[in-house]
Amino acid sequence: MTNLLLFFVLEGLLLGVWSKETCPGFRPLPGIEPRSLTCKASALTTELQDSTMDRSLSQQILELFHDCQQQSIDLDKKDLCRAELQREIQRIFPQTKLYLVGSSLNGFGTRSSDADLCLVLIDKQINQKSEALHILTLIQQLFYRLSYIERPQLIRAKVPIVKFRDKVSGVECDLNVNNVVGIRNTFLLRTYAYIESRVRPLVLVVKKWACHHGINDASRGTLSSYSLVLMVLHYLQTLPEPVIPSLQKEHPECFDPTMQLHLVHQGGSKISPYLSLNSSNLGDLLVGFLQYYATEFNWNNSVISVREAKVMSKNNEMEWKNKYICVEEPYDRTNTARAVHENIKFDMIRKEFIQVKWVSRPGDWGKVRSER
Ligand SMILES: *[C@@H]1O[C@H](CO)[C@@H](O)[C@H](O)[C@H]1NC(C)=O
Ligand SMILES: *[C@@H]1O[C@H](CO)[C@@H](O)[C@H](O)[C@H]1NC(C)=O
Repeated sequence: MTNLLLFFVLEGLLLGVWSKETCPGFRPLPGIEPRSLTCKASALTTELQDSTMDRSLSQQILELFHDCQQQSIDLDKKDLCRAELQREIQRIFPQTKLYLVGSSLNGFGTRSSDADLCLVLIDKQINQKSEALHILTLIQQLFYRLSYIERPQLIRAKVPIVKFRDKVSGVECDLNVNNVVGIRNTFLLRTYAYIESRVRPLVLVVKKWACHHGINDASRGTLSSYSLVLMVLHYLQTLPEPVIPSLQKEHPECFDPTMQLHLVHQGGSKISPYLSLNSSNLGDLLVGFLQYYATEFNWNNSVISVREAKVMSKNNEMEWKNKYICVEEPYDRTNTARAVHENIKFDMIRKEFIQVKWVSRPGDWGKVRSER
C-alpha cells in the first residue's frame, strides 16, 4: 500500500503534474488555447518518507486543494460578468434571469474553472432543439455588439450553448437557455461539497488526476467534470461506513425537483454537517476511490446513482442500453457520462484506474525510486 501511495505522489512529482499541468477546458474549440493551471509545486517539496506516507499524501491533497480551489475574487469576477450580461439580455428579453451554475458555484471549482450560465425565460422546460436554439441565435447577435465579449460561438449540442470569452475577467463562458436542471444540481452538489470536510479536497485531487491523464474532457469522449464528481460522491456514499449520505433521500423537502427556481439556492442551507463514523484520511480515501473503480465496480451492468446512494442495475432500460459508463443525473435521471461513446475512450478511462495499481509491484518501486 505504501509503495502504491508513494508512486502516485512521485508520478506527480516526476512529471510535474501539479506544477505545470495544462488541462483542456470542458468542450474546447479550435483556436482556444488550453489555460494553464497555476498550482504551486510547494505541495510536493516535502521530503517523502515511507513511514509517514499516508499522512503525507493526505497533507499534499490538502495543500493542493488550498492552492487550486476557486477564490472569492474569482467568483466575484464571474458574478460581475453575469450581472452585466443579465442587464444587456433583459433589454431584449425583459422578464429573464441569468444564473451562474456549474463548478463556479457548486463548491468544486478551481481557479481556472469556466463560468457556466443559464438564462431562464420561464420556469419550465423548453424545447432545446428549436426554441432554445432560436433564442441563442439572438443572444449571439447581441453579444457580437458588445465590445467586451470575444468570439461568441453557437454550439449545437444536446443542450445548445453560446460559448464566448469575457475580456474583462478573462473567463471562458458557456451560456444555455432554460436548462434548469443545471440550477437544481448546482445546489445539490454544493450541499454535498460542504456537508463533510473531506469531500471538496478529494474531488479536486481526482479532477486533477483525471485531467493529467486526459480522461476529463467530454468534448473528446471522456468524462465530464460533473460525472467525475458524481463518481467520487458515489464512492463516498457506498463505503461500509459512508462518508456522506444521500441528500435527496435524507432531505427530500430541500431538494424537491418541483421547487421554484428562485428558492432552490436556499434548499440545502439548513442542513447541518454530516458526522461520519468513517475517519479515513484523505490519502486512504483517494487510493480507495481509485481501487474501487479499478477492481470492484462492474462497469457492464452498473448504474451509479447518487440519488439512491447505491449501484443500480441497468435492467435493459433505454437510457443505459449499450452505454459504456452509466452515471445517473440526480434530477432528470439521464446519463451524465453519455459523452463516453467509443470503446477506445472507455478502455483508456478504465486503464487509468487500473494502472495506479500496476505500479505498486516491488520491481517498479525500485525503478521509481532510482529515478528520483
Ligand atoms: C472507511 O473508508 C475506507 C476507505 O478509505 C474503507 O476502506 C473502510 O472500509 C471504511 N471504514 C468503514 C468502517 O466502513
Ligand atoms: C463485461 O463485458 C465484456 C464484453 O462486453 C466482457 O468481455 C467482460 O468479461 C464483462 N465483464 C464482466 C465483469 O462481466
